[in-house]
Amino acid sequence: MPEDGLQRTEKLKSVNTMSQRIDLCSSADVAPGNALKVETGDLVLAVFNVDGEFYVIDDQCTHGPGSLSEGYIEGDVVECNFHNGQFNIKTGEVVAPPCMVPVRTYKAVVENGRVLIETE
Ligand code: FES
Repeated sequence: MPEDGLQRTEKLKSVNTMSQRIDLCSSADVAPGNALKVETGDLVLAVFNVDGEFYVIDDQCTHGPGSLSEGYIEGDVVECNFHNGQFNIKTGEVVAPPCMVPVRTYKAVVENGRVLIETE
């Protein structure tokens, strides 16, 4: 007879270590100093090329309906075309009001000429 009392039920924590990769566009689609709006699944994203490096943030401004891919880009800062709030493209931090809330950033990778993001 097995000794049931010694049986341990160990629940594995549901830790999702698998990151998901989402293909967004060709790196050739976004020239340096430009941005591209990409919709995939529930996400609406803005892909930026800052001096050959790619960065991905939410397209929607955290202050209102502005589309950041349509904003004015200067270096690593994008200015919303609605009320001229500014965000750092690399960190998502607010650079200038009226924006108060940082914009979400995504980890971008370039592989075989494609820009992808890794989500958890
Ligand atoms: Fe972007 Fe207001 S909607 S600054």
